[in-house]
Amino acid sequence: MKSLTDILEHRISRAIEKVTGQPDCPALVGISKNSKFGDYQANGVMAAAKKLKTNPRQLAEKIIAQLELDDICEAPEIAGPGFINLRIKDSFLTEHLLEINADTHRLGIDKTDKPQTVVVDYSGPNIAKQMHVGHLRSTIIGDCICRMVEFQGHTVIRQNHIGDWGTQFGMLIAYLGEKFYAENPDGDLQSDLEKLKAFPIQNLEQFYQEAKARFDESEDFADKAREMVLRLHNQKTDTMAFWQHIVDESRSHYQPIYEQLTVTLTSEDERGESFYADKLADVVEVLKQKELAVKSEGAMCVFPEGFLNKEGDPLPFIIRKSDGAFLYATTDLAALRFRVNELKANKVIYVTDARQAQHFQMLFATAKLAGWTDDEIDLIHVTFGTMLGTDGKPFKTRTGGTVKLKDLLEEAIQRATAVVEEKNPDLSEDQKKDIAKAVGIGAVKYADYSNNRNSDYIFSFDKMLAMEGNTAPYMQYAYARIKSIERKAAGKDVDIASELAGITTLTFTDNAEKDLSKMLIRYDQAIAIAAAECRPNYLTAYLYDLAQSFSRFYNACTVLKANADQRPVRLLLCDLTARTIKHGLTELLGIKVVEQM
Ligand code: ARG
Repeated sequence: MKSLTDILEHRISRAIEKVTGQPDCPALVGISKNSKFGDYQANGVMAAAKKLKTNPRQLAEKIIAQLELDDICEAPEIAGPGFINLRIKDSFLTEHLLEINADTHRLGIDKTDKPQTVVVDYSGPNIAKQMHVGHLRSTIIGDCICRMVEFQGHTVIRQNHIGDWGTQFGMLIAYLGEKFYAENPDGDLQSDLEKLKAFPIQNLEQFYQEAKARFDESEDFADKAREMVLRLHNQKTDTMAFWQHIVDESRSHYQPIYEQLTVTLTSEDERGESFYADKLADVVEVLKQKELAVKSEGAMCVFPEGFLNKEGDPLPFIIRKSDGAFLYATTDLAALRFRVNELKANKVIYVTDARQAQHFQMLFATAKLAGWTDDEIDLIHVTFGTMLGTDGKPFKTRTGGTVKLKDLLEEAIQRATAVVEEKNPDLSEDQKKDIAKAVGIGAVKYADYSNNRNSDYIFSFDKMLAMEGNTAPYMQYAYARIKSIERKAAGKDVDIASELAGITTLTFTDNAEKDLSKMLIRYDQAIAIAAAECRPNYLTAYLYDLAQSFSRFYNACTVLKANADQRPVRLLLCDLTARTIKHGLTELLGIKVVEQM
């Protein structure tokens, strides 16, 4: 089924056109702020009246006379200077609820009829280092975007632009070589590949620090490291083998974190900086030929219009340093070309913190100048703010170090265990463990999602694990509570699933039933807006409103003692609410639900 807002928008816009003869006067349908005035409101008449220089209320009268909405709404009303207020008919609501009930997978929500190919670039950890909290936001926000856009019916291509080619690899490779040959003095790498693959890098962070220490203490080692960068960038076989080992080892550290976070990234989605290594020279060459890249203080630079430094001088987008090295920018240009030409992207979404805003603006501007992209292709930088500690400063460990994601998630599960213990001490240990995992990880993700992504936010375990307010445990509990109502309603000999499947007619007997129904049929719109703006908080806000609407309904209407007329609609409202919450949490936010809490 098409979204109700879309249907209303379409029909009212058509009526406006019929009356005014103007094809481009949108109806501007939205959800009414105050249900006293109806459920939906069209605000477009005023603008149309202004265009025609006519009285908006009179115009609204004429439009209403042309409106064909009998199947959906009660008679429309005009309010204020020319708003059209609409109230949804009960018959439309019940029909819609039955339709959602019948669609087990998509809750009655249509796929788009204009599917696009959308590339989403997210997570992008710099490997050979542990993932830290800074990568958390990109990883989970990007993942939610993928899930929403995919659900809408678009083709999503995930690209994990891992940092696997930087100069720090010279140091790491040199250090790994030193250690490896110390243990295998007669080592001949060509025949020893298996041995290398098994060679342990137990603690990646420590390994990195040791390598860095060697680099700082020994000139010889530093020279070796620089030589390794050259060898790496020339793709020498033995150096590549060391590099590959470090990359594989890193992956074995971050892949489990993705799984723990129920993030959909797999190793298939990895297309790191190294992938573009052999495409960088051409990027510079072409930009030179097009006379877009020029030498400035020894470096090759593009100066896209409109970018100035503090002194008001043109800002360079540097694509090759004076020593010949390519940069982050060069790789991103190559990646963008690849995404447009090979992946056939209609849209590319980059998810990084707001500090990279200028980089992406310059990237998009340069690519456009070069003709590698045009107005047909949507390039979007989705930014986010900083995660802060309770002291309001960027999130750090007590000793001021960067917080490792792994430790943070462990602590979340730990703390959630205490919450579960308090709420329901009688559950089995296994159940408690599963719930603690779902709640702990869910709490971290949900707290992030529920904030406006551009705001900085304070990371607080206490807040995110609270059972009250817009938190994961509140939502998970709302779901589990409905499941428990259903179990009670089932009793001994009633099978709820078949009872629900057999429902064919619904009758409302209480306004709270209608209010909840109206919330339920808005799910599609919440997804549409959240996806269009890449804002998960629109989705969490909707789910929270839904859960609260359910509470009001459940306070007003008994389900377990409902009579035969009331039972079908009430049972169905319970089930559709549970299914919507579950769908939102598990499918779109990647947060697990539990049947019991
Ligand atoms: N590795 C980068 C970082 O940690 C993020 C990569 C973002 N994607 C991109 N195409 N530049 O900042």
